[in-house]
Amino acid sequence: MVLSSLAPQTDNLPTLETTFPVAWYAIAASHRVQTKPLGIRRLGMDLVLWRDANGKVVCQSRHCPHRGVDLALGKIATENGRSCLECPYHGFQFASDGRCVLMPCEGKEASISPAMRVESYQVKESHGLIWLWWGNEEMATPEIPWFTGLNDQPRCWTDAELVWDIHFTRAAESVLIDLHHFAFAHHGIAKWMGFADTKRLDSLETQVVGNQIKTQGVLKSEQGNGLSMNFQNEILFPNLSFFDLGLGNLTLFVTLTPIDQDNTWINFRYYADFRWPFLSRLIAKIAAWFELNFVQPDDYRLLKSSVPKRSGLMENHLVHADQTIVHWHRLNKHHQQKGVRC
Ligand code: FES
Ligand SMILES: [Fe+2]
Repeated sequence: MVLSSLAPQTDNLPTLETTFPVAWYAIAASHRVQTKPLGIRRLGMDLVLWRDANGKVVCQSRHCPHRGVDLALGKIATENGRSCLECPYHGFQFASDGRCVLMPCEGKEASISPAMRVESYQVKESHGLIWLWWGNEEMATPEIPWFTGLNDQPRCWTDAELVWDIHFTRAAESVLIDLHHFAFAHHGIAKWMGFADTKRLDSLETQVVGNQIKTQGVLKSEQGNGLSMNFQNEILFPNLSFFDLGLGNLTLFVTLTPIDQDNTWINFRYYADFRWPFLSRLIAKIAAWFELNFVQPDDYRLLKSSVPKRSGLMENHLVHADQTIVHWHRLNKHHQQKGVRC
């Protein structure tokens, strides 16, 4: 994605008002893109993802330039080892570089206007996710950001995704960072797990190096008795977070991406590292299912009630326990000053 080429002439392209921090954004789990095109909306753009004959993921604008039909309703046509995306309405075919290569109603010999094309975006596939680059064209594209030491063996993790009608900034505060809401926002679960009194955030230490924020602390009762939660959290601004919640071999990776100004796509991944892969997979699956069905609905209900919808340093009265949130917003402000907004 190249910000400087943004133009207001189509609905699919965002304006500068709708841009987000420069970064690689995960836009879908790899397993979602199989033999059929997948339609998604991310970063204010309607997109279609599909795989060519070599298994390479292609990301293009979602609406056919002919008469606007949703190309995600189409199919992948492969001939002589070359794959194209075929529109379901009149069968026009688009190559992975975006060119229209066939208009059946005009005949095979017809000359095709260069304007009859879909936009193609730069994507990569790694760590079980498909990533879209969101940055200026003069910038060198960095490597996909990742946490050292995470086991990429797919048998050890499970993804769970959800969509919230919540602004990216509010969602980021919640899913990437905030743990001191646990005993309150999730009081039923906290009680069941024995953490009902862990309301005090203690020994909080944060460290910022470039785009990385590292945090550690303890959630405990005011009296210091009962269970406590020693946690470590690492964030790669703006959109990746890794939690070690002191649950032994179970850890959590979260990433989120704006769908547009009002909606956010979130992917939770539980890693389980036990002796037997089947057990790891089973425990990761149960944890992801629990997160999606019992934990996140609590967060959503409260975030949905938050005003203003877009968060920032001036929109809240942040306290010491919110230190990591302060760092996240400072980095975000820094990005805004560089000319990109969240
Ligand atoms: S609308 Fe796509 S080919 Fe006509
Ligand atoms: Fe929560």
